[in-house]
Amino acid sequence: MKEFEIKSLVKEYSYDELSDLDRRLVECAKEATRRAYAPFSKYQVGAAILLDNGKIVEGSNQENAAYPSGLCAERTAAFYASSANPGIAFRKLAIAAWIDPGIDKDQEEGFQKNPVSPCGGCRQALLEYEYLYGDIEVILYGKEKIYILPSIKSLLPFSFTNF
Ligand code: THU
Repeated sequence: MKEFEIKSLVKEYSYDELSDLDRRLVECAKEATRRAYAPFSKYQVGAAILLDNGKIVEGSNQENAAYPSGLCAERTAAFYASSANPGIAFRKLAIAAWIDPGIDKDQEEGFQKNPVSPCGGCRQALLEYEYLYGDIEVILYGKEKIYILPSIKSLLPFSFTNF
């Protein structure tokens, strides 16, 4: 019998510690939460992807009365980015969630306290772009702390990679 450990490097930051570029990307993800269509869950997620050509592409979750037909913010952003900019690498991804519809949108309090982490389906979808074009840094925004991981694969060990 052999055993091995799989480790992920997670760096925790405060908002003020972020680089200007990372702060900008986080602000784009936060802004994108405003464009979510989430009448069922009321959980408004925003994702912002920095492309290799410097463009930032945003997406938000889009729900549907036929529940499984909706899509998460991360995949909305990734598919939008790839369809509008085919062949261009994703360099960074930031994610934020607005969880309190009772609070005025301009107020910081409405954002989730803990870092927002992408679901398994989005990890798998994003991994494919990473496999094609190189590591995508992941910035998980929470209003109390921010996690930065070096890649999608660090969020998804033993992923399906038969492509
Ligand atoms: N959602 C996302 O947009 N991203 C995630 O990583 C997790 C969940 C959306 C799906 C649904 O519209 C709502 O959040 C509640 O699950």
